[in-house]
Amino acid sequence: MEFEPKILGFLCNWCSYAGADLAGVSRIQYPPNLRVIRVMCSGRVEPSFVIEAIKGGIDGVIIMGCHPGDCHYLEGNFEAITKFDLLKNLLAFTGLANRVHLEWVSASEGVRFAEVITKFTNAIQDLGPSPVKKQKKNSELLIDLNAMQRVVNDHRLRAIVGRKRALTQEENVYGEKIPEGNFEKFQLEAILDEFHRQKIILLAENKPISVKELAQEIKIDSGKILEHVVTLRGKGSLALDHINWCNINFRRRDWGDPSCS
Ligand code: FES
Repeated sequence: MEFEPKILGFLCNWCSYAGADLAGVSRIQYPPNLRVIRVMCSGRVEPSFVIEAIKGGIDGVIIMGCHPGDCHYLEGNFEAITKFDLLKNLLAFTGLANRVHLEWVSASEGVRFAEVITKFTNAIQDLGPSPVKKQKKNSELLIDLNAMQRVVNDHRLRAIVGRKRALTQEENVYGEKIPEGNFEKFQLEAILDEFHRQKIILLAENKPISVKELAQEIKIDSGKILEHVVTLRGKGSLALDHINWCNINFRRRDWGDPSCS
């Protein structure tokens, strides 16, 4: 039987949802795989909504909004681009980045709406079912997705991502702008660091774990893991559990536990 992907679409009320409506009343055909959530603006779509959908077994997610410059809230779709970049960067760590897509469709583009949905549905059909569906509880992929969900809610990272336009396009008080390439490099490093830190916390949640084991699980250098462990202990997110003859073991800190250090 041919694979029928489940596609979730977040459509902005003022442009893309109206474009979908126009496609419907004009009887333009497009694949019936799409389920729609109407949002007031594409900028309202949080990366965590998309990750939640992927965790739930959705095969592909498309976010659609007004063309740049046409957003009814002026800059909402620029926010959508920024949030989408963060999401794509994170999903790239798990090979799921090509299951999400951002597109602009106006209220008068019923034909284009149908074309975009058809193209995206075909692309997901070619990719096959989402690998998340076959995962067991606590599999590496699910831990990665849970870590991503925490990353996108991290206030430090949200502050960095939210300042991108201001820092790269407007001059600061010294008349300087940060080159976009430099900002992106810095942003990617911050995303990767936070992703690894959240994975460490998740892995230390159920049982004490050593730096060596963390390095094996996360597949990065143990020196880097140690750096993250020190940072997380400093923030009070990780506590020393016990020391045995060859390892120091850490666990997630339980807030209010006076024995944690
Ligand atoms: S109102 Fe449509 S993208 Fe903002």
